[in-house]
Amino acid sequence: MPKLIIDNQSVEVPDGTNVLEAARSIGIVIPHFCWHPALGKAGACRVCAVKMLDGPVKGLQMSCMLPAQDGMVVSTTDEEARAMRKSVIEWLMINHPHDCPVCDEGGECQLQDFTIAGGHGIRRYDGRKRTHVNQYLGQQIEHEMNRCIQCYRCVRFYQEYAGGTDFGVMGRAASVYFGRQQDGALESPFSGNLVDICPTGVFTDKTARFRARYWDYDMAPSICPGCSLGCNTIPMARYRELLKTTARRNDQINGWFICDRGRFANAPVNAPDRPRQALVDGMPVSMDTALDALAERLSEFLELHGPEALAIVGSPRMSLEGNIMAGRLKELLGAGTLCFFGQEHNETLPRTAVSLLHATNRASQDGVRRADLVVIMACDILETAPMMALAVRQAWRNGAHVFLVGCGTTSDASHEQLFESVSVPSLADVPLLKATSPVIICGPQLQNPAAVLAAAPGTTKLAFIMEHPNSFGCAILSRDLGAISFQEAVANGKVKGFIALESDLPADLPSGIRVLAAADWLPSGLIKRSEIVLPVTTWVEMDGTFVNHEGRAQRFSQVMQPGLPIKGLTPELHPTRMHSHDIPGGDLLPAWQIVTELILRLSTERIDDPLSGPWAPLASLDSDTSLLLSDERNTSS
Ligand code: FES
Repeated sequence: MPKLIIDNQSVEVPDGTNVLEAARSIGIVIPHFCWHPALGKAGACRVCAVKMLDGPVKGLQMSCMLPAQDGMVVSTTDEEARAMRKSVIEWLMINHPHDCPVCDEGGECQLQDFTIAGGHGIRRYDGRKRTHVNQYLGQQIEHEMNRCIQCYRCVRFYQEYAGGTDFGVMGRAASVYFGRQQDGALESPFSGNLVDICPTGVFTDKTARFRARYWDYDMAPSICPGCSLGCNTIPMARYRELLKTTARRNDQINGWFICDRGRFANAPVNAPDRPRQALVDGMPVSMDTALDALAERLSEFLELHGPEALAIVGSPRMSLEGNIMAGRLKELLGAGTLCFFGQEHNETLPRTAVSLLHATNRASQDGVRRADLVVIMACDILETAPMMALAVRQAWRNGAHVFLVGCGTTSDASHEQLFESVSVPSLADVPLLKATSPVIICGPQLQNPAAVLAAAPGTTKLAFIMEHPNSFGCAILSRDLGAISFQEAVANGKVKGFIALESDLPADLPSGIRVLAAADWLPSGLIKRSEIVLPVTTWVEMDGTFVNHEGRAQRFSQVMQPGLPIKGLTPELHPTRMHSHDIPGGDLLPAWQIVTELILRLSTERIDDPLSGPWAPLASLDSDTSLLLSDERNTSS
């Protein structure tokens, strides 16, 4: 633990920390472009100069390249260091366009920030700038090579961190070019991270280009709903349209990155065919009227068929709050059936995960990155949970051996680009006992996870890959509330009608079963055959909780107001000369609140917060905290 002094402040840092990181740890920001916490140092940009006043090293030094050592006395404000940094910025800007006011990266550009902070405001160079031809890199990433400052972050991420081979750096004489051999869409499923990692605007999100400045966005900390991993994100919206999503750092989970599936998933939220209008028998009505009609029909249904004939169906893609309220509704109505999963096979793995995982044997993405042996069982990992595949790559880069058991992806070229692996017939062929921190990743096709645990030594950690962001939460509720799969409920022949909340149920249900109401934000087949349609908010239009694959509860926050994007307003709706506080298409509620309103119509009970009783500890979570749910629903941070 070396101790050093930076700008007259004493600091003690772990071995291996560089001077730049040591300064950051006490809130001193040294300008930097090529250094990145996830990629380490490259020494390419030379902008992180500091003056070493005393100790083992003296003089002007690059702080990212210098390991912190005992006795160092560092000045970041020394005149010589300032002058060096200012010169570096000036020569980086020689070939860079001076076009911040019209640049699409303006406002979220590290180069702009450090140029202004360093005081470089007047261009002295009046020669010709070096220019490049840009490439077409696909529908999602825009390429603007003239902005490049040769920090090498992009290629270090793309090739080293993410294993991509179709993008790299090419050089001839004084010209260095970052791109592909020829035009074409980037092939890596993690290519969108180039947007976040580039410290200037060489790579920008084409899907949001010129739609807003950074300060125009509505944004909030969120959780990706794309799979069960719970990667942390920051979605950004403007005028009720979700425009882009960036990665949010979480060292336990996704680190600094997210996959392209999670990043470029805006379309369904903004889709014109998204349900935004409450309907009763196909007729547009207000949400209040639809809820009144549902309360009335429910009472008639219960009188006619009895509560045994009613099923309440939640969903692993719905927030924990919505699913808790599904359980409350079942309890209130005495409904015969409660379901959280459509198909039995979707329910088996989450329920097994809930029964097998405990505080010491669950593996986070970080646990996988640190493993010295990884076994992937019955899982197309790149398809099912791309960020977990990226975590396995980091383990492999650090020397871990990777074994595949029962996977169908061994011949998948993109999978092989990420990490080398050995296919073996069974777990017995994996040298688990020789490893000190082994992890087994169990996929959705795994037949007997309990047998896996029984065969693994005590040091082994487990990661279960599920399909939806709240599969684990639903499995806990399923166990606690005695839920069954919808498939099973239909097979026993008692169900005559049901209420579905964000549920993915098969369209070919037996004709005798009534869909009394369907609440959803996706235009599902169920919505089309439902008597009453209740449109609900998406995860970016509400606060809520998802429980990820390891049982980690994380809160997501409301990013934007629900309602039709201004861009999508039809001439009948916009422009209007009438001033109104009502947002067109803004009559939406989160699914949990729809159930609360229904319960209020059926009884006198008012539920203001579903996170009460055993779930109360989750109510105090914020975007920086999470809780690992244990078997007993006790929590650990
Ligand atoms: Fe140190 Fe680039 S950040 S040389």
